[in-house]
Amino acid sequence: MSDPSQPVDLVILGGGSGGYAAALRAAELGMTVVMVEQDKVGGTCLHRGCIPTKALLHSAETVDIIRESAQFGVNASFESVDMAAVNAYKSKVVEALFKGLTGLVKSRKIEVVQGHGRLVSPTAVEVDGRTIEAGHVLLATGSYARSIPGLEIDHDTVVTSDDVLSFEQIPRSVVILGAGAIGCEFASVWSSFGAEVTIVEALPHLVPLEEESSSKLLERAFRKRGIKTELGARFERVEHTADGLVVHLEGGKTVEAGLLLVAIGRGPVSADLGYEQVGVEMERGFVKVDAYCQTSIPTISAVGDLIPTLQLAHVGFGEGILVAERLAGLPVTPIDYDGVPRVTYSHPEVASVGLTSKVASDRGYDVVEATYDLAGNGKARILGTAGAVKVVAAKDGPVVGVHMVGERVGELIAEAQLITNWEALPAEVAQLIHPHPTMSEAVGEAHLALAGKPLHSHS
Ligand code: NAI
Repeated sequence: MSDPSQPVDLVILGGGSGGYAAALRAAELGMTVVMVEQDKVGGTCLHRGCIPTKALLHSAETVDIIRESAQFGVNASFESVDMAAVNAYKSKVVEALFKGLTGLVKSRKIEVVQGHGRLVSPTAVEVDGRTIEAGHVLLATGSYARSIPGLEIDHDTVVTSDDVLSFEQIPRSVVILGAGAIGCEFASVWSSFGAEVTIVEALPHLVPLEEESSSKLLERAFRKRGIKTELGARFERVEHTADGLVVHLEGGKTVEAGLLLVAIGRGPVSADLGYEQVGVEMERGFVKVDAYCQTSIPTISAVGDLIPTLQLAHVGFGEGILVAERLAGLPVTPIDYDGVPRVTYSHPEVASVGLTSKVASDRGYDVVEATYDLAGNGKARILGTAGAVKVVAAKDGPVVGVHMVGERVGELIAEAQLITNWEALPAEVAQLIHPHPTMSEAVGEAHLALAGKPLHSHS
């Protein structure tokens, strides 16, 4: 423990992705760091988000592989999903990562203070009567699952993603409100596990912020899987009946189910933490920051889901590192949020980086694009997956966006990230020989097509 009478260099409120990344980097750069966490270091991502949900998705994928094994000439019969065993597997993954993270934090001599902290001045946080003074304060208190006014989460039949992670039963039927990443990933898991799933989305498409063609490919894949969708449909109210729930949509349509998962977005955890009292400027509950994650008070920074940037764990890591390096006096560059890859890990996956063709046009680009259908890709055929890779470029200029749908495309987006962030020309990427037979060839093929020399696709 640091000497409580002496100020440390950095005190961090919140030990999730943004907070702990800042702590690790700041300590690496020689700063003394105290991190205050009321629950477990690792936050939403490790304990209630990215990691446990991807473990569930892997169990779901295993079910799909068994169910579909005959098409690969393998006779296997699916028996059942043992939710207790699924949860044990998921917890084992989380626990191993948690142990590793705790060890890492300890090895960098970061003091973790367990408890509920509050900002009490531009340079101090208070926890259980102890005031931790620091040269700088980082706010990283994250986000919570939001609901609609009037829609009460009862944690039993009307639930959020936090509740369902500990479910010991597979629901028979579910309505999912919201078709963002959380909605689509849980739709995918539960459908694989045998539940009847209906997604209700207010906007006209699933994953509505994605390229429209990607949304349509996911909609087609989900339709084939028997997942029902109500698109452009607004939730009105939920009625509790003897048999379960009746979800009423505006316009009079109803959907019956045993469970309603509310996945309409996450709000910042910023209330009653002293932020306003100390004078930190806020906007709709989010902490306002400049391009370097500095708040309106120069000694206070904020990162992660608490600020109005992309609510993604890897964005939190990036913002945390940026703050630590800025405080250590290293030269830092603002994050280019367009260049951050986004992946929805449903079956099939949806991945993108850069601009959609619509946003690119709105920003004044003369847009050209090419789509490579995975039907022409050997590895995709072997795996039995459908989808596409679409490349959006400026006419006679660089690639500005890449959009993919298909199994394992989440792993392909890293190459697309280099292409868009390094502003490569389609012809330059077309020069690169991709390994055959891999899904990554689809990235190469889309660029070959855009460079005017398609190989396994029609021009
Ligand atoms: P989201 O904001 O991504 O999606 C919520 C959806 O709900 C939107 O499409 C919205 O139009 C819809 N909606 C809102 N009100 C509605 C209403 N009254 N009726 C019907 N539809 C309505 O939020 P989500 O999926 O809850 O995720 C929260 C955050 O966590 C997001 O920023 C997401 O990107 C992030 N996340 C990322 C993951 C990943 O990267 N794979 C996984 C899970 C979450």
